Amino acid sequence: MDVSVNGVRMTVRERSEVDRPALLLVHGFPLDNRMWDAQLEGLAGQARIIAPDLRGHGLSDAPPGPYSMDQHADDLAALLDQLGASKAIVAGLSMGGYVVLAFWRRHPERVAGIVLLDTRAEADTPASKAGRDVTASRVREAGVGVLADEMMPKLLAPQNLADEQITAPLREMILRQPVEGVVGALGALRDRADGTSTLPTITVPTLVIVGEEDAITPLADAERMAVQIRGAQLVIIPQAGHMSPMENPGAVNPAFVELISRVSEAA
Ligand code: MLT
Repeated sequence: MDVSVNGVRMTVRERSEVDRPALLLVHGFPLDNRMWDAQLEGLAGQARIIAPDLRGHGLSDAPPGPYSMDQHADDLAALLDQLGASKAIVAGLSMGGYVVLAFWRRHPERVAGIVLLDTRAEADTPASKAGRDVTASRVREAGVGVLADEMMPKLLAPQNLADEQITAPLREMILRQPVEGVVGALGALRDRADGTSTLPTITVPTLVIVGEEDAITPLADAERMAVQIRGAQLVIIPQAGHMSPMENPGAVNPAFVELISRVSEAA
């Protein structure tokens, strides 16, 4: 389905169980809502699942950037308005996690629970900021193929790199991202705020998930977040790297189910 938010056409997949809590799934970079296929399938019946493509990603419009995490958060609040969901459990992987922290800062009254997957709270270092600009120039010159080649080995646990069922959809997803959107997203990643001071302000049930072999946002990042959030539960996913929901949905989905019931009890 396509929804117009803040002047941008946003593509959204929804599994509608209207009497269940809303679960907003926010994808990472340079990806789109198809990274949540196994959750759309496996969690159907547990929640009203809403999985958008952020602006610049997937099938949504890709206006010129740079984008920002705050802008993505405001897009998502407007999307929830359009879909008539007053509150949602807000879950994000990696860049999606940066958006979730911005969403909590800007729209806390809309948040029933939080899931932070394979992400971190800290901002980019000066070296990683410079790296974002180099990547943006290379993508402009050579296309998104350079990203796929560079990122695939870092996104997955080593043992999953030979698993076509995981590598084929992931590579395809990266290759179909629009250049304008990738460049806009790199600007948002580069300029994002440090979210460390946001963590102790979180008052809703929270789950922190990390693939045990995540090479991009390793276990130590997840542990630092979990200790800063009151009552947060940390779940380490075996046989998974940075893309834990794709690599081991059999371990990720039950953690979601438990969080959904914690939220329902707290309501
Ligand atoms: C992601 O997976 O969303 C990105 O790798 C995040 C980042 O580069 O900081």
